[in-house]
Amino acid sequence: MDIEKKAFLKRTHTCGALRREHIGKTVVLNGWVDSRRDLGGVIFIDIRDRYGISQIVFAPQHNEELYRRAHVLRGEYVVAVKGVVEHRPEGTYNPNIPTGEVDVIVNELEILNKSETPPFHVQDRVEVSEDHRLRYRYIDLRRPIMRNNILIRHAMAQAARSYFDENDFIEIETPVLMKSTPEGARDFLVPSRINKGKFYALPQSPQTYKQILMVSGFDRYFQIVKCFRDEDLRADRQPEFTQIDVEMSFVEEEEVWTLSEGLLVRLLKDVLGVEIAAPFDRLSYEQAMERYGSDKPDRRFGLGITTLNDVVKHTPFKVFSETVAQGGAVAGFIAPGCASYTRNQLDNLVDLTKSLGAKGLVYIKVTEEGFETPVQKFLTQDDMTAVAHALGAKTGDLMLIVADTWKKCYGVLGDLRLEFGKRLDLIQKDKIDMLWVTDFPLFEWHDEDKRYYAMHHPFTSPRLSDIEKLKDGVDGVKARAYDLVMNGNEIAGGSIRIHTPELQSLVFEKLGIGQQEAREKFGFLLDAFKYGAPPHGGIAFGFDRMVMLFTGMKSIRDVIAFPKTSSGLSLMDGSPSEVTEEQLKELHLKLRL
Ligand code: AMO
Ligand code: AMP
Repeated sequence: MDIEKKAFLKRTHTCGALRREHIGKTVVLNGWVDSRRDLGGVIFIDIRDRYGISQIVFAPQHNEELYRRAHVLRGEYVVAVKGVVEHRPEGTYNPNIPTGEVDVIVNELEILNKSETPPFHVQDRVEVSEDHRLRYRYIDLRRPIMRNNILIRHAMAQAARSYFDENDFIEIETPVLMKSTPEGARDFLVPSRINKGKFYALPQSPQTYKQILMVSGFDRYFQIVKCFRDEDLRADRQPEFTQIDVEMSFVEEEEVWTLSEGLLVRLLKDVLGVEIAAPFDRLSYEQAMERYGSDKPDRRFGLGITTLNDVVKHTPFKVFSETVAQGGAVAGFIAPGCASYTRNQLDNLVDLTKSLGAKGLVYIKVTEEGFETPVQKFLTQDDMTAVAHALGAKTGDLMLIVADTWKKCYGVLGDLRLEFGKRLDLIQKDKIDMLWVTDFPLFEWHDEDKRYYAMHHPFTSPRLSDIEKLKDGVDGVKARAYDLVMNGNEIAGGSIRIHTPELQSLVFEKLGIGQQEAREKFGFLLDAFKYGAPPHGGIAFGFDRMVMLFTGMKSIRDVIAFPKTSSGLSLMDGSPSEVTEEQLKELHLKLRL
């Protein structure tokens, strides 16, 4: 090897740069050996860097000794080559790469480093588990698809920064070691060595800090910032993830929405060259649930849900009529063409519905001969005709109906709707659908610990017209909260905030957070509000999810350089890991496993 003894040949061009106009020039390329082909006494090697791929050529008639040395080159060796750019012979162009019209006839070769045989090929399609890719992430990131994801992420971050800067926003960093804030997940805690027995929390978001920055008069804040939440992980959830966090003073919903729409329009145009129209559509939470069974509806396909309460409230079938009488919901949608489903397929569908939490599923086939359903003896012909009419069913369709509490009924139907959207391949993948979901309830009841939680977070303002109502109870009180949904994914959430200590105390009280607890947890915020807090509001974008959607990936792990697995492990460096007895002692900690 020619390593470390002398200065190496430095590149004059990148591996993606060479074109027809370079023919005849002497160039130096640095890069990794991507592939090698020995063809009739000539060795062709593709060398790769971040910018692209170039073909280099070793021929015995050109340089016998070099040709022999080229035989030692293997995949992922790092090389420097000097040579002359030539026009490839007619008929040997590679139209798949921008450098495909030329190659480099090598007359100097330096091997800068060897490589062991990599655990998988550096190419887009690899037949290895994700765990294997994560273990060798440095190699995985060399694959063009992964490199492209990281480059798009970079372009999006830069475009977002410019956008906010141009709109008079100031990027301000907030602490990573902070006091615990409630975004609804568990905190990651960091023990303090100096302050015995005390802990910092890693921010679930900079929520309280950004509100305090408004009190300080910064007016328009943004930050591209890491957030940490100890929650169950999924394809679109990581324990640490990135937000584009935004807060504005003297605004109401419309200003936050307009600014957010501008960001999405700008990113799509700058990064993907796609134009979308603003303003985006809006649906209230209630409308979204009742039409699509989801607070983040994917509207790139139909299968809309229809409420059947009025149609079935007098039916002798008790599952339906009693649900209506008890204030629940009966609703359904049509699976077009699915009357052909077999008994087995239908049984599986009922099982699926139950696994989603419903008590059951009524299905009715619409056939040439009439309606076919296991509940034939409970539902009258008139009932079924009325239901079919309400749902708009045609011969050959399968009607799917669920009766339950409002939330469960629509939630389960929403999951079934998504399932059929996929099964029937109805989702228009090339479509970009942006939607605001607004008017969320302020509070949400949790059965597990029998108490209310803030649906967004406890700093969210109730709708102004509901403040009086809130004094008496929480039922029907709506929040000034909104989510931005892109293609069925929640990509941002925010709200207009409470800015007076009185209203903030009232909301804490309704959440069962007593005065003393409020003092301990949020005294700093309540104090700040005493010194002239402006009306303010904001939003935070889930940056990883946005990059995932922009790149067409299915998991945010594919757009994060070093993500954790679904069990929270970093397979490359092996964290989390044990620490020494000394380290624990210094932190005044003792393990009880
Ligand atoms: P929220 O909790 O809705 O709001 O978060 C904002 C956005 O962040 C993304 N997100 C996540 N992405 C990846 N992994 C996670 N674990 C994860 N959790 C959330 C989502 C979500 O829409 N402080 C408020 C914002 C505000 O009120 O201004 C907040 O954090 O895309
Ligand atoms: P059961 O009375 O539980 O035997 O149910 C009779 C039929 O109604 C079965 O086909 C069940 O799957 C269906 N069913 C029961 N409960 C519900 C419900 N809440 N929503 C929709 N269908 C239901």
